[in-house]
Amino acid sequence: MKKNLNIVVFGGSGDLAERKIFPALFSLYGRKFLPENVHFFAFARSILTHKMFRHKISTNLACRYNSEDVCDEQIKKFLSSCYYISGGYDMREYFCELLDCIKTINDKEDSEFIFYFAVPSSVFIDIASNLNAAMNGRISLENAKLVIEKPFGQDRESSDILTERLLNSFKEEQIYRIDHYLGKEMVQNLLVLRFANQFLEPLWNSRYIEKIELLWTEDRGIYGRGKYFDKYGIIRDVMQNHLLQILALVAMEEPASLRSDDIRNCKVEVLKVAKIIAPENVQTGQYSGAIYKGAKVAGYIDDPSIPNDSLTPTFARIPFEIDNDRWHGTQFVMTAGQGMEESKAEIHIKFKSKHTGIFCDYEKCPLPNELIIRIQPNEGFHFKITTKTPGNKLAFTVKDLDLSYNRVFDNLILPDAYENLLLDIIAGKSELFVRDDELRASWDVIMPVLDYLESKKIEPEDYPFGTNGPEIFQTT
Ligand code: BG6
Repeated sequence: MKKNLNIVVFGGSGDLAERKIFPALFSLYGRKFLPENVHFFAFARSILTHKMFRHKISTNLACRYNSEDVCDEQIKKFLSSCYYISGGYDMREYFCELLDCIKTINDKEDSEFIFYFAVPSSVFIDIASNLNAAMNGRISLENAKLVIEKPFGQDRESSDILTERLLNSFKEEQIYRIDHYLGKEMVQNLLVLRFANQFLEPLWNSRYIEKIELLWTEDRGIYGRGKYFDKYGIIRDVMQNHLLQILALVAMEEPASLRSDDIRNCKVEVLKVAKIIAPENVQTGQYSGAIYKGAKVAGYIDDPSIPNDSLTPTFARIPFEIDNDRWHGTQFVMTAGQGMEESKAEIHIKFKSKHTGIFCDYEKCPLPNELIIRIQPNEGFHFKITTKTPGNKLAFTVKDLDLSYNRVFDNLILPDAYENLLLDIIAGKSELFVRDDELRASWDVIMPVLDYLESKKIEPEDYPFGTNGPEIFQTT
């Protein structure tokens, strides 16, 4: 890590910066994980003074790790290192002004620069090329890192164009594509679960596993994000990225080492053989208005920003297969929905049933084992296991081996995903970021279903807000 660091957040007055980026930076700052000479710069179109900006972000800063008495002091110190510069993204002059301004505040020659693009992808290229030009003579290119947030394009083609254009200004190794799910504790735990527990590996294949289901739901609608969401829909919003990333970690082979490229190579390999079984089998839904928790909730198309005839799915259930020796025969299903009964993200590993043996002869065959990896909320593992029911008679039942984090770890404080991600960016570690070939491979998995739904104008099934999705698609 360099001693001098400047972090520049484009879109610095926006929601992502205010809710996630600055609180995570503050958290790292408060724990002294950042270099001593660090400065933060927010750049955006809104006209704000430094003071107004500092006040705006201050309400979201919290000391989760430090006591209250040092907290106020830390907040004050952190805010005094934050600056706001307003300007447009389409004019090079603004970028020159920005970099000149940074130089007046932190003039150390060997400073490192992190440029975080917390802006819609439509302005990525403007920012990258203007920044690149403005850097000339001011900052050495090797000292810059670029952080971008999804969506990375709308389909494989637009994503490729975006990548290609970014590569005109920066090198792939300098680009950190964020999929914030990779920063989540339980997603990071997948490598440990799989490759540090010897007993699992012999079972982790189609001989023993019947089905792997990834389940992601939110009990919220798309309020306030209608314009974005209607263009993307649930498949692009969470399945092409978050769920496919999780799938890759669940299904990949053991990497040669923990080095970023070894891990990412294995993810790419498995994504390349993941296939949607038949796009016609993909089930989609759209939530309608309902009474939820005693209050009337509007349906998707009732939102003023959504056209009445929108076919955008807010729910999808996609069955697919992984065509390699390990997984041939195991069913994979990804389900995601907004406006559902509860918010959760889980991985269900369903082991095969036992059809023969002493217990099938005696009473009934035991139920299959199931491992549930709970990504959020209430992070942890649950393993459904058959056990003898205590008593004189021989009977058995299924019970839960419960490794909930808040039960097994004392004083549990889980870092926010953005803290982990930012720490890795600063350290120059890239395994939590999506490489260009990984991005291409994940678009390739999802494109057949998008092409099918969009070319055939498939109508999503209706489901009332706050339920488990369209009735016929209830998960087992
Ligand atoms: C984002 C999606 O990437 O992830 C949102 O665009 C979704 O639609 C969000 O709500 C969920 O993130 P988290 O961390 O709250 O599960």
